[in-house]
Amino acid sequence: MPRSPRPEDKFTFGLWTVGWQARDPFGDATRPPVDPVETVHRLAELGAWGVTFHDDDLVPFGSDEHARQEHVKRFRAALDETGLVVPMVTTNLFTHPVFKDGGFTSNDRSVRRYALRKVMRNLDLAAELGASTYVFWGGREGAETDAGKDVRSALDRYREGLDLLAQYSTDRGYGLRFALEPKPNEPRGDILLPTIGHALAFISTLEHADMVGVNPEVGHEQMSNLNFVHGISQALWQGKLFHLDLNGQHGPKFDQDLTFGHGDLLSAFFLVDLLENGGPQGVSPYDGPRHFDYKPLRTEDISGVWSSAADNMRTYLLLKERAAAFRADPEVQEALLASKVAELSVPTLSDGESYADLLADRSAFEDFDADAVGVRGYGFGHLDQLAVEHVLGAR
Ligand code: GCO
Ligand code: MN
Ligand code: MN
Repeated sequence: MPRSPRPEDKFTFGLWTVGWQARDPFGDATRPPVDPVETVHRLAELGAWGVTFHDDDLVPFGSDEHARQEHVKRFRAALDETGLVVPMVTTNLFTHPVFKDGGFTSNDRSVRRYALRKVMRNLDLAAELGASTYVFWGGREGAETDAGKDVRSALDRYREGLDLLAQYSTDRGYGLRFALEPKPNEPRGDILLPTIGHALAFISTLEHADMVGVNPEVGHEQMSNLNFVHGISQALWQGKLFHLDLNGQHGPKFDQDLTFGHGDLLSAFFLVDLLENGGPQGVSPYDGPRHFDYKPLRTEDISGVWSSAADNMRTYLLLKERAAAFRADPEVQEALLASKVAELSVPTLSDGESYADLLADRSAFEDFDADAVGVRGYGFGHLDQLAVEHVLGAR
């Protein structure tokens, strides 16, 4: 039994997750709307730390200024009552028909100008509520046809938009960091910046590259059949893991947004091990929110919504316990040694050694017995089995 979630675990949820009414392309909503104020109270009761939202989750699209202020006021009061924080905010640039060809990259210039204004208004609110991260998920930035989109121009416009918004946030002293969320497809046939790698490469071209990182989502990388732990590791390695979206996915198919761990469980285990224990390096490399971006199954009623919210945190804490046990197990430590996992952190050349020295080192080549070294096993299978047994609670 894991302990109950506590605010210091930094668990956060989007309003749109538990608030999803379960409308899909084939069927109507199966659940009533949930008042954001109720969500704040429920999440606080469950032990969450914070809540996140798109502008339109909090203030319905088209609300006038007075109504907008009322929505924000009620929400703020709920935050004050519960102590829940708002570490991240984002923009809806995908629901309204005006965004059907994207926000920052619509072929229609007037749509792009409108999208920038919509984001600027919500950046003000994000700063007002004390957020430190602003997420950009470009679900509609993409295309279904190669004929209709000049991708190089689209990337120019994407960059122009982000450069402008970063300048705006900086000029206003908001202290926000931007996090781009990759996704390969859905709702567009092909979305721009489809993977962590594409996003990292794009970010390096931005004017304010230092304030822009990524917000990778478990299921989105797995939709492309990619290894999420590898992707997160590279984002960390580049100092770009600003935020992350935890959920579950069963391989390459539509975006399932399942409860965390309800997909590739072993990958979820190694993800938690990396976030909490730093993996083999032993130092936790991430102290940001553990943000759940999942959808309660369409088959569930409202009580199933709140129990699934709790399940995300429970599974995370269970995996955290299992990962700690894995790292503490002397047999695992022995197996890690046999697999030379720590040896990879030793530089290939010695301090001060040059390529001339390497050329002069006969033991590195002329006298090196490649055949003898080639027959040695690494024992990775045994190590993985130990992980499986820890996940199963068998050790
Ligand atoms: C998805 C995405 C979205 C975004 C969210 C933030 O499942 O396709 O994760 O949920 O994260 O809209 O902008
Ligand atoms: Mn998703
Ligand atoms: Mn997401």
